[in-house]
Amino acid sequence: MRADPRRPAATASGARLAVARPDDVARARRMAYALAVAVGLGAADAAAVALAATELATNLVRYARGGTLTAAPVAGPRGRGVLLESRDGGPGIPDLARALQDGYSTGGGLGGGLPGVRRLMDEFAAETGPGGTTIVARKWAGPARRAGAPRP
Ligand SMILES: Nc1ncnc2c1ncn2[C@@H]1O[C@H](COP(=O)(O)OP(=O)(O)O)[C@@H](O)[C@H]1O
Ligand SMILES: [Mg+2]
Repeated sequence: MRADPRRPAATASGARLAVARPDDVARARRMAYALAVAVGLGAADAAAVALAATELATNLVRYARGGTLTAAPVAGPRGRGVLLESRDGGPGIPDLARALQDGYSTGGGLGGGLPGVRRLMDEFAAETGPGGTTIVARKWAGPARRAGAPRP
């Protein structure tokens, strides 16, 4: 992690970016894409991670009082992967269940952002309240293991 959140290191070590203005969204997208490629995701998966980062960062700009987007390398049973974490200080998502449905937007948007992030990534979790929202999502380089399949 670099000390200056405005100058993310787009490397395999990950980075945390302050996201408050529209041009921060492009930085978040590049940061996430570069990390996904660095950890070994294929082109389509890296593009999916970049799109997820774009949606999370757009929401930080539009709906939160600024926040941070972290992209970090992770390792698990499916090999290496990318973790995206969006964190803000409020006002929170009033109805999270509805916000995760396609077409729901309080801001005149298309309402496809959060459901899109959930589909694009392999794992997705969100916690929200008046004090803020944290969304954590991971995407793995390796294929999903089928139930009952022998372990490698
Ligand atoms: N970080 C956030 N803080 C507060 N509300 C949020 C945040 N992210 C999303 N939301 C809420 O969830 C809704 C759905 O988000 P999303 O699916 O990205 O659609 P859109 O951005 O088009 O409104 C938003 O309209 C907003 O009400
Ligand atoms: Mg959105």
